[in-house]
Amino acid sequence: MTENNPIDNVGKLAAPADLVAAAQAARKNAYAPYSRFLVGAALRTENGVIITGCNVENAAYPEGVCAEGGAISAMVLAGERKISEIVVVGSGDVACTPCGGCRQKIREFTGSDAIIFVINEAGKTLLTLTREELIPHSFGPENLS
Ligand code: THU
Repeated sequence: MTENNPIDNVGKLAAPADLVAAAQAARKNAYAPYSRFLVGAALRTENGVIITGCNVENAAYPEGVCAEGGAISAMVLAGERKISEIVVVGSGDVACTPCGGCRQKIREFTGSDAIIFVINEAGKTLLTLTREELIPHSFGPENLS
């Protein structure tokens, strides 16, 4: 546990089974013919709604979008605004830690009590992180007020 960690023993928590299953299912729909690295994400909003996303690549490589970004866009479209927990699954045993851009996107829609889980393809929890651990000293909406 880090000093800034508002949640006790967060590192020991396992990803919840329903989000694990949802992320694995989303991963199966990933469109990743270029990297062949399929990613799924499943988030739970503060209202208990589960929303998923997968990575969608493009022949114009920079136009691809990450699984987390897709899930966040779908969440906003659904009228939800706050993530309480999110699970990310990559391929094999690789810990698919959110990229820098996705960390900022997750930052926008989380409180400091959010939990970020990274699991392997089989569903085992590899990493359990607080938002502060995911994106330390982050810039957020509060910085603009
Ligand atoms: N990817 C994600 O979807 N999420 C991440 O957090 C890291 C990377 C995707 C982008 C690309 O389609 C593939 O994984 C390889 O980088």
